[in-house]
Amino acid sequence: MDKKQYIGIFDSGIGGVTVLKEILKVLPNEDYIYYSDSKNNPYGDKKDEEIFDICDKIVKQFIDNNCKAIVIACNTASAKAAKQLREKYKDKIIIAIEPAYKMVFDYACEKTTLVMATKGTIESEKFHKLYEKYNNNKTYLLACKGLADIIEEGNREKIKIYLKENLSSYIGKVENVVLGCTHYPIIQDEISKILGNVNFFNGANSLAKHLQEVLREKKLINKQKRGTINFIDSSRLSGKKERFFKYLEM
Ligand code: DGL
Repeated sequence: MDKKQYIGIFDSGIGGVTVLKEILKVLPNEDYIYYSDSKNNPYGDKKDEEIFDICDKIVKQFIDNNCKAIVIACNTASAKAAKQLREKYKDKIIIAIEPAYKMVFDYACEKTTLVMATKGTIESEKFHKLYEKYNNNKTYLLACKGLADIIEEGNREKIKIYLKENLSSYIGKVENVVLGCTHYPIIQDEISKILGNVNFFNGANSLAKHLQEVLREKKLINKQKRGTINFIDSSRLSGKKERFFKYLEM
């Protein structure tokens, strides 16, 4: 009998659930391993080398566990480590997310835009290249230091206070919001409550379609009737798994 082949997905916590959710819409019958690296959360304030080392260990583990594809469901890790990981693991499928700024260019580039992401993503060379390429000259960049951690923590009150303090100056000024961290779609409704009726852009859907295309091209799509999702959290904190599956079903 064939050994199970998995798709390995990771993030610095449960935020990547917003990516898995999109992937499941197009690839529902796969077997997934979701690695929530909450022990190392946040990635956003860490140095590039440190992020690479963390991601390298996770990728190695995925390969040892028979993963046919690896998804970096974290904008920060994608910006800081995807290139090197692809160089190191040349024959592996490594799919990475990026802030959906090109999507703004394609669909709503005349509108004022706010890009929300971690400090690490905003300051990365990879994001700078993307920004230069698609700059609509009506964009604000906001490094949301600490936001991914409080979403990870799940403290609604802290999130409300944070958003009020950091987003109030954009009220009435922005029409598009790029959710450039995979944790942020979890609090999209709370962001709307402050900024009003804005258009949200998020890279998860494009990533999911790209993954599907790559697997199809390589004839790696699972033909079985049902898939499985294995959740692992590096800090083993109680309640993580429950919240992860709750968000997945929302
Ligand atoms: N979900 C990660 C991202 O997309 C959060 C990064 C962090 O841990 O700071 O960037």
